[in-house]
Amino acid sequence: WLIIALLILQAYLLGSIPTGYLVAKYVKGIDIREEGSGSTGATNVLRTIGKTAAIFVLIGDMAKAMLAVGIIKLWFIFTPLAIIPLEWKSWLIVAGSMAAILGHSKSIFLNFTGGKSVASSLGLLLVLNPIVALGALATFLGVLGLFRMVSLSSIMGVIAVNILMLVLHQPLSYCLFAVVGGIYVIARHRTNIMRIFEGTEPRIGEKLTSEA
Ligand code: G3P
Repeated sequence: WLIIALLILQAYLLGSIPTGYLVAKYVKGIDIREEGSGSTGATNVLRTIGKTAAIFVLIGDMAKAMLAVGIIKLWFIFTPLAIIPLEWKSWLIVAGSMAAILGHSKSIFLNFTGGKSVASSLGLLLVLNPIVALGALATFLGVLGLFRMVSLSSIMGVIAVNILMLVLHQPLSYCLFAVVGGIYVIARHRTNIMRIFEGTEPRIGEKLTSEA
């Protein structure tokens, strides 16, 4: 149990790595949390700094979550923990996934602030189930192409994850993760949702007029 607790802790700590904060500090010497939407995610880095920095953050945030969950999966294959029943493993992987998402948005290195956990969720979904991840990404890109709003695209991506988990008959643990994690990620977008209804949510390339 100690090893399992440590595996979940490593997922939280890896999720906590403040990619966007570090890139913004390094490139421009600014605290990204004081700019634009206040999020440390790639979207806010894009509007505050630019494309290259945003791509770094996007890849970094996806990679840290993939690593966090990937490490847990590897332990369940190549160590004595392999004897744990399959169903338990999926629940523990889900616990690690939730820890990584929480780490990204409530980072221990940033006084429990952070991003909205979209890129990190995509990263860990690629490890959990690549088909669900790619389906969600396709939905995200489709909505982004139509409305050019990252927040709306992220929310639709979350809904797609929930539908795909059910349609593809994924384990209960994964379906529940899609619901709980999805509600959490959508809740992180509450200021975006208010702006969407007010008609003030910025589209890609536009600046944010009001602070989140
Ligand atoms: O990835 C987060 C995105 O959905 C919204 O970010 O900075 O526009 O609030 P932001």
